Formats: sequence, C-alpha cells, structure tokens
Amino acid sequence: MGEMVKLEYRVSSEDFERAGDASSNTKKVLKKIGIPSDVIRRAAIVTYEAEMNLVIHSMGGEIVVEIFPDRIIVTAKDFGPGIPDVDKAMQEGYSTAPDRIREMGFGAGMGLPNMKKCSDDFSIESEVGVGTEVVMTLYI
Ligand SMILES: Nc1ncnc2c1ncn2[C@@H]1O[C@H](COP(=O)(O)OP(=O)(O)O)[C@@H](O)[C@H]1O
Ligand SMILES: [Mg+2]
Repeated sequence: MGEMVKLEYRVSSEDFERAGDASSNTKKVLKKIGIPSDVIRRAAIVTYEAEMNLVIHSMGGEIVVEIFPDRIIVTAKDFGPGIPDVDKAMQEGYSTAPDRIREMGFGAGMGLPNMKKCSDDFSIESEVGVGTEVVMTLYI
C-alpha cells in the first residue's frame, strides 16, 4: 500500500492528565501531512473517543494510528475488563460510567456510536476478562 506513517500511544487507566494527548498529536501529524480537513476532523473524534474509553473504562491499552496513502486505520486495544454486551454498549446513551466520572463531564454514552458514525469501516471485538479491540478505517 506504499509508504506509511505509524503512530503508537500507550494509554493508562484513569490517567486524566494525559487523556487527549494521543488524539491531539494524531491531529497535528495529519495536518502536517496535508490530509483533508474533514478526514482530520473525523480521525480526531474517533481517536479521542477511543482514548477516553481506554482511560475511563479499561485497565489500559494502546492506540495505533496507521496512515496509508488512501486510508487511516485507528486501532484501540486494551487489557480488559472487556464488554459483556457489545450491542448494548453500542446504543446511544448507554454508559456504565460511575457518578465520579459523570461529574467530570464524561459518560454521555455517545462515544462508541460516534466512533462508528465517523468511520467508513468499524469493528469491535470484546471478550470479558481478556479485553476489547476496536478497529476504525477512514478513507482519505
Ligand atoms: N474499552 C472498553 N472497555 C470496557 N468497556 C468499555 C470500553 N469502551 C466502552 N465500554 C463500555 O461501553 C459503554 C459505552 O461506551 P461509550 O459509547 O463510549 O460511552 P461512555 O464512554 O460515555 O460511557 C461504556 O459505558 C462501557 O460500559
Ligand atoms: Mg466513551
């Protein structure tokens, strides 16, 4: 698929101090490369929502952004706890975020639906006790 750029970010559970760093850095790199603004906007949204889900809901994980000449692939993979009912988690407004997190302004339950909406191709696989992997492709 030609030359590519690969960005990798470790995302730690509950690390609200660095939350948003992966998406803002990704946005900066995409701008530098000259990716169209609509694609940058959607890539920033999916990366941010994926990053926040790792911070808020997971035990930590990794975000990988691969930039190909014709597409961007964002992969978020974590070490658990996994999602018991993925169909439910995908519903608008569904959130298990506790009050402590909601008080910080998170937990609207729109992250996964928006990640799907902003992607051209979206897949989520999760296993309780193992982890969750979300793969999002955006065509340039
Ligand atoms: N990486 C993850 N690990 C475990 N659970 C997750 C993960 N991502 C999402 N979830 C579950 O799916 C629900 C919906 O996620 P989302 O749509 O992003 O809404 P929100 O983050 O506002 O709760 C979360 O409340 C959580 O229960
Ligand atoms: Mg979320």
